[in-house]
Amino acid sequence: MMTYLDSAATTMQKPATVERAMAYALTHMASPGRGGHVPALLAADTAFACREAAAELFHMDDPANVVFTQNATHALNLAIKSVVKPGDTVVVSGYEHNAVTRPLTALGCQIRVARSPLFEPQVILAQFDRLITEDVACVICTYVSNVFGYILPVEEIADLCRRRGVPFILDASQGAGALPVHMDRLGCAYVGMPGHKGLYGPQGTGLLLCGEGQESTTLLEGGTGSLSARQEMPDFLPDRLEAGTHNVPGIAGLLEGLRFIRRKGEGTVLRHEQALTTLAAEKLSAIPGVTVYAAPDPALQAGVLSFTVERMDCETVGAKLGEEGIAVRAGLHCAPYAHESAGTLKTGTVRVSFSAFNRKKDVERLVQVVGRLAVQTEK
Ligand code: ALA
Repeated sequence: MMTYLDSAATTMQKPATVERAMAYALTHMASPGRGGHVPALLAADTAFACREAAAELFHMDDPANVVFTQNATHALNLAIKSVVKPGDTVVVSGYEHNAVTRPLTALGCQIRVARSPLFEPQVILAQFDRLITEDVACVICTYVSNVFGYILPVEEIADLCRRRGVPFILDASQGAGALPVHMDRLGCAYVGMPGHKGLYGPQGTGLLLCGEGQESTTLLEGGTGSLSARQEMPDFLPDRLEAGTHNVPGIAGLLEGLRFIRRKGEGTVLRHEQALTTLAAEKLSAIPGVTVYAAPDPALQAGVLSFTVERMDCETVGAKLGEEGIAVRAGLHCAPYAHESAGTLKTGTVRVSFSAFNRKKDVERLVQVVGRLAVQTEK
């Protein structure tokens, strides 16, 4: 039996309803907006229900502002390329993923980094406060570090941006589904998120939540099933950003993932993941030679935990855990800024990450095998 502890990459265990909905969509649904026949209408209804479920979960008035994407990277590229012009100055946190920093680099942006040690929200807030000056075109921040599970104070950062009139883009890749995302409260320009992590949809799905009145830039142009006589892309959402055939089985699965989160109720998944994170942190810290990057206040950490083992490189630890049937991620996790902030850029980390489907026994297995590896390195 596999012990799956890599839900920060993708939640591999999904609710049974997700699988069933996808199988049904594959055999019963056609292309939404591309026909008046029953399979096309069924697909259109499913897509609309998915937008509505997302709008409800993320406190948005208009489901049309929920755009389907392939993943969070796609959503963040759309957001960034809508707000940021080549050469602009942009402020980001010292915990960003390459999905944010690579598009900014490709645009030749001046990137100002709000750096701070791990689990110091007041310090990072002070950094944002200092760096958001008049010349800043945009602020981008991750909700939760994909390496360390650190929950950043994004509501306060959004508030700072609002008061200074600077657009804010939230990368909710690791937070969505577990932590609240209130579009009405945040007032941000865009929020990007995957459908296949904390929302329990399949891979190949993502969401871009668009703030009211945003002028979005297209990355793809093509058929939308609307205004077909015109050669320009429609200027209304979601059509403007959804050229080409939709991933209908993916959307059907994502809808069931969103319903699963709603059934769980706000905060339930987060509390479950935090309990497992705290347990893993306590038990791994007790193993000689293991360094654990755990928050002193567990409320500051979501279901992601990094650690290192003395005298064994992270990739080797990851591979040995894999041989024992424990799936983790090891290395730099596509987030060099986060490692610079935490001082782990040279070594990387071994990362475990939890979902609603993990149990205490998964932590116990992990601790048992890491304990054995740590003893081997002492010899
Ligand atoms: N960004 C995802 C991760 O951290 C893929 O693993």
